[in-house]
Amino acid sequence: MQLTVGIITISDRASRGLYDDLGGPALKKAAEGYGWNVLGDMLVPDERRDIQRAVRELIGKGCQLVLTTGGTGVALRDVTPEAVREIAVRELPGFGELMRMESLKITKNAILSRNLAAVVDKALVICLPGKPSGAVECLSFVVGAIPHCVEVLQEVPTSC
Ligand code: MTE
Repeated sequence: MQLTVGIITISDRASRGLYDDLGGPALKKAAEGYGWNVLGDMLVPDERRDIQRAVRELIGKGCQLVLTTGGTGVALRDVTPEAVREIAVRELPGFGELMRMESLKITKNAILSRNLAAVVDKALVICLPGKPSGAVECLSFVVGAIPHCVEVLQEVPTSC
């Protein structure tokens, strides 16, 4: 099935125009490289309600997969995991576990990211770190499981 993806950059500073959003474009390029159709991208501050509204908006537009970048760290303004968990029907801990395990081979700071994946409505939401290269790396670690996960959530008949 053709995967339709939405991308959300979560950053106070980028959303205020204090610096360019590099994470969103980097993820868009990676998603297109995987052959996915990128339906929309959004830029929101580190505010729970804004994050939740953006996730719901992209799912409402037909995204089966939503990728977020930023707000997974330890700063008090980092609220992406809390925002997504609050609207999720379930969390998929394996995604965060694998992303941190593989990222630790690249940077000790990987332990600081509260990366996660969760199901919102029938969509898969994956929360990636804010650094553009980190977001693309983390996506690459879990990409193999995404098509099957999306098919199951969309209730497409599968072989397992
Ligand atoms: N994971 C990978 N693969 N590569 C990275 O560069 N950066 C780390 C971590 N995970 C990084 C990574 C850093 S420096 C931080 S602070 C945390 O992700 C949280 O990032 P965020 O708050 O921007 O989401």
